[in-house]
Amino acid sequence: MRARTTAAAAIAAALSLSLAACSGGDSEGASSTDDATVGIAMPTKTSQRWINDGDNMVSELRQYGYSTTLKYANNSSKTQIEQLENMIQGGADVLVIAAVDSTVLGGVLKKAEDAGVPVIGYDRLPMNTPDVDYYSSFDNLKVGQLQAMYIVEQLGLVNGSGKGPFNIELFAGSADDNNAKYFFKGAMDVLQEYIDSGQLVVKSGETDFKNLTTLRWDGRLAQKRMAKVLSSTYSDAKLDAVLSPYDGMSIGIINALKADGYGTDAKPLPLVTGQDAETPSVQAIIDREQSETVYKDTRKLALVTAHMVNSVLHGNSPVISDTKTYDNGKKIVPAYLLEPVSVDRTNYKQVLVNSGYIKASDLK
Ligand code: GAL
Repeated sequence: MRARTTAAAAIAAALSLSLAACSGGDSEGASSTDDATVGIAMPTKTSQRWINDGDNMVSELRQYGYSTTLKYANNSSKTQIEQLENMIQGGADVLVIAAVDSTVLGGVLKKAEDAGVPVIGYDRLPMNTPDVDYYSSFDNLKVGQLQAMYIVEQLGLVNGSGKGPFNIELFAGSADDNNAKYFFKGAMDVLQEYIDSGQLVVKSGETDFKNLTTLRWDGRLAQKRMAKVLSSTYSDAKLDAVLSPYDGMSIGIINALKADGYGTDAKPLPLVTGQDAETPSVQAIIDREQSETVYKDTRKLALVTAHMVNSVLHGNSPVISDTKTYDNGKKIVPAYLLEPVSVDRTNYKQVLVNSGYIKASDLK
């Protein structure tokens, strides 16, 4: 393995204690793996985060001296399966996969297993297959908890300064992405007691995960549902908060709210949460349109995942932080989970700009 010498070293330093403690995978015996190729399958380029994730993975793995094949599937699971098949046939030594549809990869991952190719689930866990070896992600339950905590704190329900009742509407992510369930469950763990006490009212009555999901996290679908709920339920009532699990959906939700007349002094926008700290949404936070986002440092995710790849290629066990949570229906997949951070107007500079995640010059 080659020495790591770039800016990633700063992040590496932060993680190095825990990583170095358990792995032993960073050192000797690299000769047989020096020319290894890593197949990286990413879902879509419609969101900046996945573009960054792909680029980060390539640059992290290059620092170990590995070659990479990076493919984006244009949000088509059929395309992604074909890409994975080509990677396996082309002799990939490890696969790193952020699934388009986490529920349909069983067949192609069996082919990887038969070809002796280890598989790492990247941020999204492949479901119902024994043929996934490791998982790198964030504490996905905590993501939902942070979004919901933000809402109940800002409404004054935690310190008792606001009594309610407040109207809230709920959104969930893509049903075929295991993360969506975790985000929603984490949020409901916080919100349920306030819904039960009547301080929060879901006026549309739509509280079941299966009725709230948004295929492929599509902002246009979220916008459509928000518009429908506003016209069917809120002609005489004011919406106070929206639980949105992802920035791309929050943008659509805010569009629908503005089209309905929200965003004036007389009719202020409700609280709207989000996730990923994407630049347009951080700008919307600065502009007081979106309220909050959950920042997940995808640079660290790439660092951890590349470290996993290197360990696997050396026949070592990667560093794992969780061996209980991620049951994919066939096995509990050993995982390394990073910490998400809630961001709003008060801390975006410190958390996002000072850490170099977003350039100050990209924000107005
Ligand atoms: C999830 C991911 C989120 C968000 C979403 C939509 O799997 O954990 O951070 O990116 O997909 O892309």
